Amino acid sequence: MKANVEDSFRKRSLGPPRDRPNRLRCCQRKHHCPLTLAVLDLLPFSTMSNAVQHDLTFPKSWCRRHLLDLESLSAEEISTLLDIAQQLKEMTQGCRHKISLLAGKTCANLFFENSTRTRNSFSLAAKRLGADTVEFSSVGSSVAKGETFVDTAKTIEAMGVEWVVTRHGTPGTPHLLSRELDCCVLNAGDGPHGHPTQGLLDMLTIKQHRGDIRGLTVALVGDIAHSRTARSNIWGLSKLGAHVIICGPPTLVSPRWSELGFEVAHHLDDILPRCDVLNLLRIQFERQRARPFPSVHEYAALYAMNGARMRKAKDDILIMAPGPINRGVEITPEVADGPHSVILEQVNNGIAVRMAALWLLSGANDRVKANPKSSPAD
Ligand code: MLT
Repeated sequence: MKANVEDSFRKRSLGPPRDRPNRLRCCQRKHHCPLTLAVLDLLPFSTMSNAVQHDLTFPKSWCRRHLLDLESLSAEEISTLLDIAQQLKEMTQGCRHKISLLAGKTCANLFFENSTRTRNSFSLAAKRLGADTVEFSSVGSSVAKGETFVDTAKTIEAMGVEWVVTRHGTPGTPHLLSRELDCCVLNAGDGPHGHPTQGLLDMLTIKQHRGDIRGLTVALVGDIAHSRTARSNIWGLSKLGAHVIICGPPTLVSPRWSELGFEVAHHLDDILPRCDVLNLLRIQFERQRARPFPSVHEYAALYAMNGARMRKAKDDILIMAPGPINRGVEITPEVADGPHSVILEQVNNGIAVRMAALWLLSGANDRVKANPKSSPAD
């Protein structure tokens, strides 16, 4: 019986986006404004030969020029980002083909911490929409000669960029840049604080499978104390009406989360049967001063999602992880590669939400440039 359910779930999860429940389009139609971009005739790329005509309508209510965190976004703004991401995913045929919506603009990646997924995904998102990219890495740059973070960012901005995408170990650095620069600023991770595009891509993946986030029980499991992914998910999911459970060892989960109205749990086995979605977070050893548990083996025994735990979970549970995953620590290979895992779908959706963010922020920026007296939201 279980195998049949898993088979059908697998077919559904791997099916093309048009086969999945999609309420995104209906919401999108609420925000019509006169600026409608018919994009097909802007596309010089041979890859678009079998593309379908799509209209993308800039949402009248969108006025943010920066994406710094999800805490300050309204539920409507988060839904708008997800709607546009879904539309751009379809317009680029699963984030694989190019359209020239942002041709002539340049996106600078300013990364002061390691990254595989986020950096490449922002670059691909910009390129899929026809923009150019500049790749900056602190190693081998003038930072080594004593240049400050803000001076480096201003130097890159002076090259005529539309967006600065920044990742830094210090919380608040993107917020600082948004006050210092005139271009759009996107947070690609600021220490343990926030990772808004990760939160968005997680929510888009859930929406594609479940249609609606409201009413779902989503558990974030692992190193909550040091995880920016956790914080972005907590704010984003709760704004969209999910019941969020924050689960991990007491040394990595502050009891104060319950004062903010979130359910806190320390035993995965107790909450597992109620969960619709599990998001398994990596132990961020690089941010810890002392070991928060006796051994990785003991952590895995209590919190790793494995085959035995899968048998106690709901038949249609979604297994997610922001990556990089540590096989055998927070997740075993049979679960990571199993039919409930949507980890690689999350990676693909990362391009979609980043395309949406780049397009929306740039549209708001264009409006401010055209009418300097208008007041942007940030
Ligand atoms: C991050 O950079 O925060 C990643 O997406 C998650 C991780 O490093 O575990």
